[in-house]
Amino acid sequence: MTDSTFTPRVFSGIKPSGGLTLGNYLGAIKRWVDMQDGETETIYCAVDLHAITVWQDPTGLKAGTREIAAGMLASGIDPEKSILFNQSQVPEHTQLAWIFNCVARLGWMNRMTQFKDKAGKNAEKASLGLYAYPSLMAADILLYHATHVPVGEDQKQHVELTRDIANKFNNDFGVDFFPVTEPVIEGPGTRVMNLRDGTKKMSKSGESDMERINMLDDADTIAKKFKKAKTDPDGIPETLDGLNGRPEAKNLVDIYSGLADMTAEAVVAEYAGAGWGKFKPALAELAVAKLAPISDEMKRLMDDPAEIDRKLARGAERAREIATPILEKTYDIVGLLR
Ligand code: AMP
Ligand code: TRP
Repeated sequence: MTDSTFTPRVFSGIKPSGGLTLGNYLGAIKRWVDMQDGETETIYCAVDLHAITVWQDPTGLKAGTREIAAGMLASGIDPEKSILFNQSQVPEHTQLAWIFNCVARLGWMNRMTQFKDKAGKNAEKASLGLYAYPSLMAADILLYHATHVPVGEDQKQHVELTRDIANKFNNDFGVDFFPVTEPVIEGPGTRVMNLRDGTKKMSKSGESDMERINMLDDADTIAKKFKKAKTDPDGIPETLDGLNGRPEAKNLVDIYSGLADMTAEAVVAEYAGAGWGKFKPALAELAVAKLAPISDEMKRLMDDPAEIDRKLARGAERAREIATPILEKTYDIVGLLR
């Protein structure tokens, strides 16, 4: 998987800052499930400390963390094969993040587009945590010496920053301690777009619920959202090139492709010349067939929060077994007396 001397290890995370969306599923969770069946150790995290970089209602945050965990379990993350936990139960994440705050440069942070998007015009009012967020993300990854990080396209810049932090730490201290991590961004669905505006990504926190598919949406809601999804007068083209410059049309084809495990070419070939009146109901049917079993299982799991909490606590214990020696070694390298 990598030419470095580090044993391959996968780490990834999702913020409990709202319900899971189809973007999270296709861009992240579905690919995490595929990765856990190989030789490589896989570690998946509900990153609650990232969620609080913007205001979260405390009761909602606990419920959201359990929902993310339920979503991962229901999608097929197996807590025996993978380590599954929530970030705040492993305090080493924040300890390493402080060290990285002292490695990362302000100039690097100022280039982060997610901060600019989220802080918007009101950057003066954004939390310091939102600005430092990519440094905590680097700590999440490097605390486990993770070599591969499966994420959606939107997180590429943060993984690149993680590489810069690892390189600078290694150079500054003259060590080869942190691996230079690879982002794993491949296949369809790495950037699922908003159903009402194909130039924006589908997100948990967008203004209107009509712009996203939530993992817990029922069949009627899914059908309604696809029916109302923005398109253009042309239907499915004869070839893939016919989707150029048509972000909304391309997005629906990409979603179909991700859900059906088909290439976009194959989807276009199958529906060539079809109008939206044919394609949209077929897409809705496919989405319901894939998502309904997951959302049913999520609801079942969420009926027993104590069991989810037990699984997360056990995952956190296993995570700490890896994290503690790496943090201790980092403290030694930096010269912190213990
Ligand atoms: P977040 O919901 O921002 O915590 O994102 C968690 C994971 O889902 C990250 O790997 C994101 O890249 C991925 N993700 C979120 N939204 C989308 C989207 N619209 N398309 C593809 N991947 C996404
Ligand atoms: N920043 C990621 C997001 O918004 C979530 C995240 C936090 C993450 N830490 C991570 C993803 C570590 C991968 C690895 O989607």
